[in-house]
Parts: sequence; structure tokens; C-alpha cells
Amino acid sequence: MGDNQFKKIKIFDTTLRDGEQSPGASMNIEEKLNLARQLSRLGVDVIEAGFPIASEGDFEAVKTIAMEIKGAEIAGLARANEKDIYRAYSAVKYAARPVIHTFIATSDVHLKYKLKMTRNELYERAVNMVKYAKSFTENIEFSAEDATRTDMNFLYEVVEGVIAAGATTVNIPDTVGFATPFEFFNFIKNIRERVEGIDNIILSVHCHNDLGLGTANSLSAILAGANQVECTINGIGERAGNAALEEIVMALDVRKDIYNAVTGINTTEIYRSSQLLTHITGISVQPNKAIVGKNAFAHEAGIHQDGVLKEKTTYEIMTPERVGRQPNELVLGKHSGKHAFKEKLVSLGYLLKDEEVEAAFVKFKALADRKKDIYDEDIDSLVAKSHPLEKYELKYVNVVCGDTVSPLSMVKLMVDGELKHNSSCGNGPVDAAINAIEKIVNSRAKVVAYEVKSIRGTTEAQGDVSVTIEDADKRIGITGRSAHTDIVVASAKAYVNALNKLYVHNKNTAGKSACEMEINA
Ligand code: KIV
Ligand code: ZN
Repeated sequence: MGDNQFKKIKIFDTTLRDGEQSPGASMNIEEKLNLARQLSRLGVDVIEAGFPIASEGDFEAVKTIAMEIKGAEIAGLARANEKDIYRAYSAVKYAARPVIHTFIATSDVHLKYKLKMTRNELYERAVNMVKYAKSFTENIEFSAEDATRTDMNFLYEVVEGVIAAGATTVNIPDTVGFATPFEFFNFIKNIRERVEGIDNIILSVHCHNDLGLGTANSLSAILAGANQVECTINGIGERAGNAALEEIVMALDVRKDIYNAVTGINTTEIYRSSQLLTHITGISVQPNKAIVGKNAFAHEAGIHQDGVLKEKTTYEIMTPERVGRQPNELVLGKHSGKHAFKEKLVSLGYLLKDEEVEAAFVKFKALADRKKDIYDEDIDSLVAKSHPLEKYELKYVNVVCGDTVSPLSMVKLMVDGELKHNSSCGNGPVDAAINAIEKIVNSRAKVVAYEVKSIRGTTEAQGDVSVTIEDADKRIGITGRSAHTDIVVASAKAYVNALNKLYVHNKNTAGKSACEMEINA
């Protein structure tokens, strides 16, 4: 079945607006622009860039995003009053496809205590403000805040009224995350069946996660006839957050048989988007978070590891690559079997004889009894005894860098017991250090991934660096790791560590080409 036989679901991303309402998630203009660029690469249909009346900064951010980002529609939020709407228009008008998103609460509890309005007054306001917004631009979204606690008949009237007034999208928010999936399915189905004009517009939902049901409710709404979902990266947002974009998109992707729906999302950009948001806000996702959590594709139980190694689909319903993650995230622990241990050794560049594997496995089991998670460095230290002599040893690294000079490094490396040195410049201090090492070693390996993490999350902590290199023939990717309080030193050591592993690997693979590593310094 081709994609055109599936229903298209619009993805309305509100990470920059509702997401930014998460405690501690505020972003500056530059950060918002960076995230908007990534959302555009991800392929969202609408970027809600902010709430322009809220502050000067919000206004500028929405305006800047509207000016730069092409492709996605750019929405600005506005309460249902003229001042807000005009301000929102003034910011989004620079976009190729601007959207004014205006909202007002429709539930009795909000009418009575917050807005102090009657239902009739509210109806008039909603309809008039949609007309007002429509005088500026074509695409108008209307949201009935707290829709799920609104009297149904009144909600039908309001929705019908705003459609007649020119709304092109009507959004049904479960503002306080109160709905349950079956109930919400019926709610949306009733709106679809009973509201005149509903088939001529986009019917959207916006589910909060107070009961942990944001994703489930959004998916139920899709089954009931919604054709837009509002969501955020990593599920960030007001209180317990919003429905998570990655969860909705991957549920639709993996269970096409149930939902018969597609999105325009490039799923391989999901993980990068999640990581970028984490880096910008400093808010990490829980390790077991679906799709983007550290453990989402990690198999620890021996029986699972064995199954995945034999055939991925035994325990994986989607591949890590599908969401833009690297495979091979086997976390070893005391339940890990020999098969998984051997596989880890290979990925770390060790090709040992059977007796060596046996000996290392016994040590590994002893260590796993004392330590829950066994990381690559632990395996390195276990296996190190089989390789007492390392070919390369970093003896000295010094980099001059700063905002007014080009980074320049000086490196001394022990190669087979002989001291060699060289210097190099680079794009940054790490690049300069790695270039100098490469000048000495001439491995022709290419760095294909580089990651630095703070071990304790403070500035005086150690930087844990991993560098993945690919050999000149692109036959194998090998990761080196090291930790140091100076991340340039950690990076240089991690690179040397990867080179040592590559050397050992080359030596052990049928003596093929230990000489691939020529020394020229
Ligand atoms: O949760 C909500 O009701 C909202 C509206 C502004 C759409 O965020
Ligand atoms: Zn919301």
C-alpha cells in the first residue's frame, strides 16, 4: 500500500511555546532559532514559535523564526483579544505560511472563576476574535481551552461558530490531562459527527500528560478522526508536560496496521532533536523514556541479549537507526551471557582467542557481582592484561586556544617505546590535538563520532569522551574512551585508545594489516 492510501496526520510542534512553559525550560532567541531549524529538518508541519504578547523576547523569537524558517507553518499564540492577536500577527507575518493561534477557555469552571463571562458572552468573543484574526491572515487556529471539561452541546456550538467565522483549524485541548483514551475517542468522534463544517477544516487535539495519558489520548483521537496532533519533543510542557512527539510519531509508524496514518516526520532526526533540546534546556529525559531514553534500545537480560544478537526482531519492534540512534547499545551486567560479552569485545576492537575470552569472562562475572553496569572502560581494564603493551601512549598534549587565536597543538606520543612529536592546528582545540596525533600515526582512520559527557554534571567534573573512528577501508568502527578533567586531554587519550584498539584489531585479523598504521614522524 502506497503512503497516499494512508491518512495524513499534521504534526504541530509546540516545544517552543507550551514546552517552554516547563519549569526551567526557558530558551533565549538563539537557542529557539537553533531548535526551530532542527524542527524544520525533522519535518514538523507547524512550529508554534511562541506567545508574542508574553514578552519582548518572545516576540523577537517568533519574528526571527518566521523570517528564517521556510517550509513549516509558523504559529504565534494569542488570547482571544485584539491586542494579543495583533501582536501575534505582527510577529508571524514574516513567515511564508503564518498562523494566528487564538484561544479561550470554554468550560464552566473557567467561565465562572477565571473569565467571569457567561456562555453567550464567550461565544460572541470567540467568533468575533476569529473574524478579527482572519482580517490579517488566512490560517487561523482556534483552541477551546479546557475542552474536555466543557459541556458537549456548548462546545459543538462554539466550534461551529468559529468555523463559520473563518477558523481553518479547530483544536480540542485536554488542558489538564483529565481525559482517558476511550472517553476521548468518543469525544472526538462526536465532534466529527455532529459539528457542521468540521470536514472542511483541520480537527486538532492537544493532550496534556497529567495522568500519563497524553500519547494514548492523542492516538485515540487520531482513530476517531483528528487530523492534527499538538505535541512536544521529549514531552516537555506545562506541569507533567504534553504528549511526546517521538512517541506519537513512532506509534503511527510502527503500528500503521492499526492507525492507517502517516506523518511527514523524518524519523531519523528524532534522536538528534531530543538531544538538542536536552542540551539547550539541560533537562534530561529519564533513562527508560520511550524512543529517546538512554535505555530505550538497551537489552540487559542475558536471554534478551542472546535473542537480539540472533535476530533483532525477537525483542526490537523498531530499529535504533529508524529514530536516528546508533545500534549496539548492549549494557552488560550480571545477567549478560557469554555471547553478548564476546560481541561487546568485538565492538570494542578485541578479537581474542577462545581461552582469552574464557579468562576475561570469568573476571567479568566477578566484577558484575560487585558493580551493576559494566561500561566499556571496565571491559578495557579487564582485557588490558591480555595486552600489556600498548602500541601508542600519549605522553604530552598542549593546546593554545581562545577567541583571538587559531587553536594550535603540540603532542608527544610514545610509539613502540620511541618518543615522537608533532604539532598541528585545527578547527578547535580537540581537532588540533587529534590532527597532531594523526600526523604522527598516519592511521588514515576517520573520526565518525565524538561525544563528551560530564560525569557528574558540574564544571569541575571529569569529561567522559568517546571517539569513534572508522578504518581507512571503512570495514570497522571502533570506539575509544577516556575521562579527564581537561576535555582536550580526555579527547586526545580517547583517540589514542581507539587507535590502539584498531591496531590490535588489525593485528588479530589474519595478520592482514598491522602495517596499515605507518609511522612517519
Ligand atoms: O493546554 C492548552 O489548553 C493550551 C492551549 C493554549 C492550546 O496550551
Ligand atoms: Zn497546553
